[in-house]
Amino acid sequence: MTQDEMKTLVGQAALKYVLPGSIVGVGTGSTVNKFIDALAGMKDQIRGAVSSSVASTARLQALGIVVFDAADVDELAVYIDGADEIDHAGYMIKGGGAALTREKIVAAQSRQFVCIADESKLVGALGAFAVPVEVIPMAASRITRQFATLGGTAVLRLKDGAPLMTDNGQHILDVSGLTITDPLGFESQVNQWPGVVTVGVFAHQKAQICLLGGVDGVKVLTF
Ligand code: 5RP
Repeated sequence: MTQDEMKTLVGQAALKYVLPGSIVGVGTGSTVNKFIDALAGMKDQIRGAVSSSVASTARLQALGIVVFDAADVDELAVYIDGADEIDHAGYMIKGGGAALTREKIVAAQSRQFVCIADESKLVGALGAFAVPVEVIPMAASRITRQFATLGGTAVLRLKDGAPLMTDNGQHILDVSGLTITDPLGFESQVNQWPGVVTVGVFAHQKAQICLLGGVDGVKVLTF
């Protein structure tokens, strides 16, 4: 089975967690795109979605799924999203698609986080994938130096040769060289730094369930 087929499988498996009549929280990325495509098949059974990015909103709307503003809805029953890494406690690194801030907001608004991922994303310890950090541009150099004191190397993410702009008009630093032994503590620490909008470690907003696609099908991990 290819990685793409595994993503399709977990995207379809996530439908089981969508309650009829509900508004579902929807993440961002290639795995979530498979989920959105599958969700279109039950669009008449749900009220709609709250989306975590401009890209997911466009895909949802193109398939006829109503998208609500997060500010206009109360608690969501479930949030479905992918991950760049997930460990055996459900802690994740996210933000490879630059949507981490809105992803964390929608995750915080949801009772349950269901992570959908192929087996390459499961790790023993977080940190091999460079941690995305959304920052206010004027703070980027100082935050880069702060990461250096932790042994990390922060690199400004570029798109078409210019600094990538997030949906919120901010920049992304990708930080490599970190071994994150205490995800909760690390997330809390970096969140305190002036100019950090969101750190792409999802420990306070960890997954409760992971649908992990492998050669033998979908494994359900619960945390
Ligand atoms: C976007 C994300 C994605 O969930 C993460 O990058 C995984 O993406 P993919 O499913 O394409 O591998 O955090 O900001």
